[in-house]
Amino acid sequence: MAYTLDQMTPQPFAERRSAPRQPLLLSWRDGQAAEPRAEIVAGLRAPQASIAPKFFYDSLGSQLFAAITALEVYYPTRTEASILAARGAEIADALGRGRPLVDLGAGDGAKAVRLFPLLQPSRYVAVDIATDYLGESLRRLQREHPALEMVGVAMDFSQRLVLPPEAGPGPRTLFYPGSSIGNFTPAEALQLLTRARAAAQGGRLLIGVDLVKDRRVLEAAYDDPQGVTAAFNLNALVHVNRLLGSDFEPRDWRHVAFFDEAQSRIEMHLEARRPLMLHWPGGERSFAADECIHTENSYKYSVEGFDGLLRTAGWSRTRAWTDARGWFAVFVAE
Ligand code: AVJ
Repeated sequence: MAYTLDQMTPQPFAERRSAPRQPLLLSWRDGQAAEPRAEIVAGLRAPQASIAPKFFYDSLGSQLFAAITALEVYYPTRTEASILAARGAEIADALGRGRPLVDLGAGDGAKAVRLFPLLQPSRYVAVDIATDYLGESLRRLQREHPALEMVGVAMDFSQRLVLPPEAGPGPRTLFYPGSSIGNFTPAEALQLLTRARAAAQGGRLLIGVDLVKDRRVLEAAYDDPQGVTAAFNLNALVHVNRLLGSDFEPRDWRHVAFFDEAQSRIEMHLEARRPLMLHWPGGERSFAADECIHTENSYKYSVEGFDGLLRTAGWSRTRAWTDARGWFAVFVAE
């Protein structure tokens, strides 16, 4: 494992006296991790083709996700924020204050910013796979919060969750909001939650989890009338073209989302509008009309079910807060 320090542009001398604080930006790569190319090719070659949801998040994908969180039909972000706003003091008491706040999948950092006054973190550590978007978000946040030390860590934590020492000494508060944990199968989620214990260094976890509810509410949230979710799904093809050199034409594909009750998950797919041939350097694959690429699972839990998962992963003294409709849960674990 090696990490590299992004070079900051030096401040001109005249401005140095009042030089504002700059975030530290690290790109943390796991030497053993599979090349994204190899992972993408394996997914495209499989009988049931797939693209992992982390490939949604180039800069445009991160912006499209931010747009999704503002949609009327997309309730998770708003519901989670309402729980944190209503129960913030209690949640902060359960978490403890003054520790490094590690934001997993930080995006634009909007969710974490609202915790700053409650948790008074000793530093803010934003972790995200979208390197450029993370850097831009963090430089903006640093201007708005000049007194808080900020560290950006560009990494894929889905395979391995090991943070650089710059994430801070001693117990850390891990923040994993938005039900992003739902992108993993329960078995993978268990692994990630177990690894999160080590990364917390004896600290605590604040995690948001979407709950099972009426299928109409769930399906509307993943197929909005404005087509933002469709654009977000199709953008994975553009991102893959850039990473792999493939020749996906987004207009050849249709956005599909449905709730699979048996597996308690939303599935998102891209369905071929006609028979077509996909090429990339060193390979190709044909798709029949209506054949699908599976791009995302978003698991929905019960409070008891997720509590059990946390405890199996070795977390204890778990507590959960939900909204009045019981649509979303926020957990704290030690
Ligand atoms: C970021 C994984 C929580 O599953 O709801 C939003 C991503 N996909 N709309 C989710 C997403 C389609 C989102 N997570």
